[in-house]
Formats: sequence, C-alpha cells, structure tokens
Amino acid sequence: MKILLLLIIATLLSASFAAAKTGGGDITFEVRSIGNVMFSHDNHIAGAGLKCTDCHDALFITKEKRKTATMSQMQKGQSCGACHNGTRAFDVKGSCANCHKK
Ligand code: HEC
Ligand code: HEC
Ligand code: HEC
Repeated sequence: MKILLLLIIATLLSASFAAAKTGGGDITFEVRSIGNVMFSHDNHIAGAGLKCTDCHDALFITKEKRKTATMSQMQKGQSCGACHNGTRAFDVKGSCANCHKK
C-alpha cells in the first residue's frame, strides 16, 4: 500500500515538473514590419545565468502590463537595451535578425 502511494506521488511530481516552465516562458513581441521577436526565459535564466530581479519589475512586468519601447528608446538603454548594448549582450544597434524572425 505504501509503495503504491509513493508511486502515485512520484508520478504526480514528475508530471508537474514536466509541465513547469522557467519564469514567464516564451514571450512574443509582435512587430509586423521586420518580424516578431521571441523572448526566451529559458535562454536568459538557464542560458545566460540571470536572476528574476535583473529584469523584474524595473524593466518588465507582464504581457498585460507591457511598457512598449521603440528601437531608439532601446538604444538609449530601455527595455531589452538595458543589456543588449554591446557590453553585456549583443547590441540592439545591429544583430537585428538575432531577435526579429520573419
Ligand atoms: C532578461 C530579462 C528577464 C529575466 C531575467 C526574467 N524575466 Fe520574466 N519577463 C521578461 C519579459 C521580457 C517578459 C514579458 C513582459 C512584457 O511582455 O512586457 C516577462 C514576463 C514574465 C511573466 C509574465 C508572463 C506573462 O504571460 O505575462 C512572469 C510570470 C515572469 N516573467 C516571471 C519571471 C521569473 C519567475 C523569473 C526568474 C526565474 C523571470 N521572469 C526572469 C524578462 C525577464
Ligand atoms: C535584443 C533584441 C532586439 C534586437 C537586436 C533588435 N530588436 Fe527591434 N525590437 C525588439 C523588440 C522586443 C521590439 C518590440 C518592443 C515592444 O513592443 O515593446 C522591437 C521593435 C522593433 C520595431 C518596431 C518599433 C520601432 O522602433 O519602430 C522595429 C521597426 C525594429 N524593432 C527594428 C529593428 C532593427 C532594424 C534592428 C537592428 C538594427 C533591431 N530591431 C534589433 C527587439 C530587438
Ligand atoms: C538583464 C539583461 C538582459 C535583458 C534585459 C535582455 N537580455 Fe537578451 N540576453 C542577455 C544575455 C547576457 C544574453 C547572452 C549573451 C549574448 O547572447 O550576447 C542574451 C541573449 C539573448 C538572445 C540570444 C539567445 C536566444 O534566446 O536566442 C536573444 C534572442 C535575446 N537575448 C533577446 C532579448 C530580448 C528580445 C530582450 C527584451 C525583451 C532581451 N533579450 C532582454 C541579457 C539580457
């Protein structure tokens, strides 16, 4: 009986781990003219080793509470441009296709 219970708990746990996503998951910014941008929490947290507080709540909140930014605002350090400035990460002044995908 105990073994069965443990098995059920283990199955439930692994199912919830499989369904779990990192932070807010994958976020799409729609940009019709040059192509949408997909922001990956996975690549920024597991990949680049950032902490939640590196972006929340100063730079980003949620999709619903998005503070939209233009590229020229990003070049002045807002939004993605807080890091994508050629020092901490590739620069928003170039590398357009790293972010914008047709
Ligand atoms: C490199 C920056 C960055 C880091 C680090 C980061 N986030 Fe996010 N997060 C974002 C962006 C960008 C959005 C989308 C905001 C928007 O649409 O304006 C977002 C949105 C979210 C949302 C809302 C998703 C939605 O559907 O609206 C949650 C929840 C979230 N993040 C949780 C986390 C947690 C938890 C961590 C740490 C494990 C984390 N984030 C780390 C950039 C980041
Ligand atoms: C680090 C990722 C990143 C890079 C690199 C980047 N962009 Fe963007 N861009 C975005 C995001 C995210 C948005 C949407 C922002 C929002 O809605 O708040 C955007 C929005 C835009 C827009 C619509 C807003 C505006 O400024 O008119 C245009 C046009 C654009 N990008 C062009 C470019 C061009 C051209 C380049 C290369 C010189 C570039 N982007 C490089 C992430 C990037
Ligand atoms: C807190 C700093 C920080 C912010 C804010 C940030 N990034 Fe990044 N990003 C990084 C670092 C560090 C890397 C890894 C180093 C590199 O690729 O230059 C990275 C890598 C990436 C990559 C390459 C890996 C991948 O996911 O394909 C993309 C694309 C990207 N960022 C898009 C964005 C977009 C879009 C935004 C804004 C919505 C954003 N980043 C905001 C720090 C940041």
